[in-house]
Order: sequence, then C-alpha cells, then structure tokens
Amino acid sequence: MAKTAKLVIEGQTYDLPVVTGSQGEMALDISTLRKRTGLITLDPGYANTGSCESSITFMNGEKGILRYRGIPIEQLAENSTFVETAYLLINAELPTRKELTRFSIMLNDHSLVHEDMLAFFENFPKRAHPMGILSSMVNSLRAFYPELPERTDEEEINITFARLLSKVRTLAAMSYKMSLGHKVVYPSHKMSYCANFLNMMFDSPVRPYKLDKDLVKALEVFWILHADHEQNCSTAAVRLVGSARVNLFAAISAGISALWGPLHGGANQAVLEMLQGIYDNGGDPAPFIRKAKDKKDPFRLMGFGHSVYKTYDPRARIMEKICKKILKKQKRKDPLLDIAKKLEEVALKDPYFVDHSLYPNVDFYSGIVMRAIGIPLDMFTVMFAIGRLPGWISQWKESIGDPKWKLHRPRQIYIGSKERNFVPIEDRG
Ligand code: CMC
Repeated sequence: MAKTAKLVIEGQTYDLPVVTGSQGEMALDISTLRKRTGLITLDPGYANTGSCESSITFMNGEKGILRYRGIPIEQLAENSTFVETAYLLINAELPTRKELTRFSIMLNDHSLVHEDMLAFFENFPKRAHPMGILSSMVNSLRAFYPELPERTDEEEINITFARLLSKVRTLAAMSYKMSLGHKVVYPSHKMSYCANFLNMMFDSPVRPYKLDKDLVKALEVFWILHADHEQNCSTAAVRLVGSARVNLFAAISAGISALWGPLHGGANQAVLEMLQGIYDNGGDPAPFIRKAKDKKDPFRLMGFGHSVYKTYDPRARIMEKICKKILKKQKRKDPLLDIAKKLEEVALKDPYFVDHSLYPNVDFYSGIVMRAIGIPLDMFTVMFAIGRLPGWISQWKESIGDPKWKLHRPRQIYIGSKERNFVPIEDRG
C-alpha cells in the first residue's frame, strides 16, 4: 500500500503521499499542497527540498557514499576513464567497446572550435578570470551552431553533447595559451581526451610537451571525481535555467557561472590560496582555525564542510591518494601538502569541527594535484567545470525528458512593507 503522511493544519487533516526512492530514501510529495491548503513550504537554500526524481547519481552524506548510475565512485576512479564515465552518466549504461569507439570518434570530430572565436579571446582584458571567459564562450557557441534545435532526433542531440564536451576542453586550453600571449595548440586525433588537454595546455614549439601516463591518469581521476554530484548548486542552476527551455549552451553557461563561486567550485582555488597564506605566515594553521571558528569573522576553512556529506567526502580520500602518488613519482615535496595534512589533523580533533561534522571535501587536496600537474591557480575552477560537464549534460537531458517537467518557479514569504502610497520627491524627508 502506498505510504502517506498526515499533516494537520488548524484541525484539518491532509494526507500527503510519501515517495520512496530506490535506496529507501523517503520524501513527502507536497506538489498539491498550496492548491489544497493555501500554504507553501519555506526551505531557504532548499536543503530539505527534492526538486526532481533522478536516476543519475546517488549520494549518502551520512555514510560518505557516491555512485554514478549505481557504480561506486571508488570503482570508477580505479578502472574507468573520464570519457567512459561521461558516456555512463549521459547514457545510463557503460558503453560496449564499439559504443566507446564511436563516442571517442565523435569527441575527436568535434574538438575544433571556430577560428572566429579566437577574436573573442583576444578582446577580453588580459586579467579576466578564465571562468568568466569560459561561461561567455560556452554561451556564444550557440551562435555558431544555431541550426540544432534542442529537441530533435537522438543523433543530433548526441552531436550537441559531444560538441560541448569536446569544445569546452579546447576552449579552456585556448584561453590559457592566449593569456600567455602564445599561439594556441590544436587538438590531435592521436591522443586521448585527457592527454589532448594536457598537450593543448603545455606543448610549445620551443619546448615539446612530454606526456606522462601517471599525470594523464591523475587528470582522468580528477575529472571522474568531479563528473556529477546530484543536485548541487551549479547543476540546480543548469536545471532551473534549462526549465525555461533555453538552449543547452545557455543552461551550461549558467552552471559555469554558479560553479565559479568560492563556496562551490571556486573553493579549489580558495583552498590553495589559504594553504599558501598559512605557509607564508610561518606554517602554523592555528590562527586560521581560530578565524574559521570565530562567528564574527566571515572566514571559513576552505575545503572543509559540505552541504550533504556529514562525514569524510569519499572523493577527498581518493584525491589525497592521487596527490601522494604523483608527488612521490615526481620526487617532489610540496610544502602545501604538509600544511594540508597538519591542518586536517588539527581540525579533525577540534570540537568545533567535530560538532559541526566538518570534514575535508573534494577541494581540500585537489588544488595540490592540479599544481603537481602544472595547472595555473586561476584555471583550477575551469578544471572542475570541464569535469562537471557530463553531469550537467546528463541532468539537463534527464530534465527535458521528465514527464513531470515544470518550469522552475519557487515561491516566497513576503516580509516587506504593506501597501503604502507613493510620496513625491519634494515631500520626502
Ligand atoms: N569553516 C568553518 N565553519 C563552517 C564551515 C567551514 N568550512 N562550513 C560550515 N561551517 C559552519 C557554519 O559556520 C555553520 O555554523 P553554525 O551552525 O554554528 O552557525 C555550520 O557549519 C553550518 O554551515 P552552513 O553554511 O549552514 O552549512 P552547509 O552545509 O550549507 O555548508 C558549505 C556547506 C560547503 C557551503 C560550507 O561547508 C563551506 O562554506 N565550506 C567552505 C567552502 C568549500 O570548501 N566549498 C566546497 C564544497 S565541496 C565542492 C562542491 O561540491 O562544490
């Protein structure tokens, strides 16, 4: 029998259906609440609100579980590639060898960007943040591919997905090269998705880039770990903007803008700046921990805490392992890793962090991994964006195919002035 919950408002009882997910998660279906009772729910930040039903990603924040299409993140990080994981997210199943080859060919075929786009890059101020550039460039892609309607046959939709996945990576590397004033490096059909990106970033006529398979693997894992995270801020932005039936490029551009924020994807850059700050101040994390606990100070310990995980973020554990592995391989000691370890140790014993269930999140070690690969600091969040692309695409695809689809339009509780009369300017105090 279908479960219901009872809601009593001023003596009147209403039955609310209880929806149960495939992992036993339960939710009250309040979709008819306003119609039946005249009331709405108030949930700032939507932390108690399920905005959709989804079969893409499962998270359990209490147990530290993350699975894409049912497959644990640990298994994907160990065995998969970013391209294969992207296919899995978008198409719901792991590809056969033939499907993977076809998908890789599509990514290769669509990896070039229109040469006219170079003029856009040239006209951004040199100090423009790459996330702002990326968001604008992705939005402008629509102008170059206007002929593709968003709801058309499957083949064309798949081409649009491949186009985005492939071109965003090319655009990101181009923006870096152009910020240096160097000639761009074109993608090559001879390299994998991740190797191609590193080559486009670092190859130069005066210093050919030598691909290192461990760095390529580190990048694969970095991107797999970022590929989706259910209804996070940027994904919610993609779904919300997409709910107006805007084109995919515009919806993804909104996601990139949301990701830019330091509380979301921008945290990876902020973590490294914080670790550098601790290092520059003699290496003692204590003053930073004190600041983070001081309620009068807006400072937060970056890379700590998560809206859903109330335990160690499973991605942070994998990231930490990768971090140690590549630093060992490079026979390099990064002083910021020592600081991160010290900070983590102190914070995890501190009653404030224990009581607030604040643990390292994915961004805590990811900056050190990026640094070891050679990615410049202001490109860190762009790296997150490239990784999150398959998630945004699959969530957009799921939302436009959802029979319960609705234009997103939250309500509010108005707390402003009651009706009052307009006062002419000469009569105002
Ligand atoms: N340092 C100090 N205090 C914190 C922190 C932190 N990093 N995070 C949360 N708190 C405290 C906060 O002050 C509040 O305390 P109180 O209840 O005493 O007023 C309590 O914990 C709950 O905070 P909240 O903002 O309501 O909780 P949230 O779960 O919505 O916050 C968060 C999630 C990620 C915004 C927050 O933990 C944060 O700001 N972390 C630092 C930024 C960061 O690392 N972001 C990356 C997130 S993972 C990557 C991604 O998916 O985007």
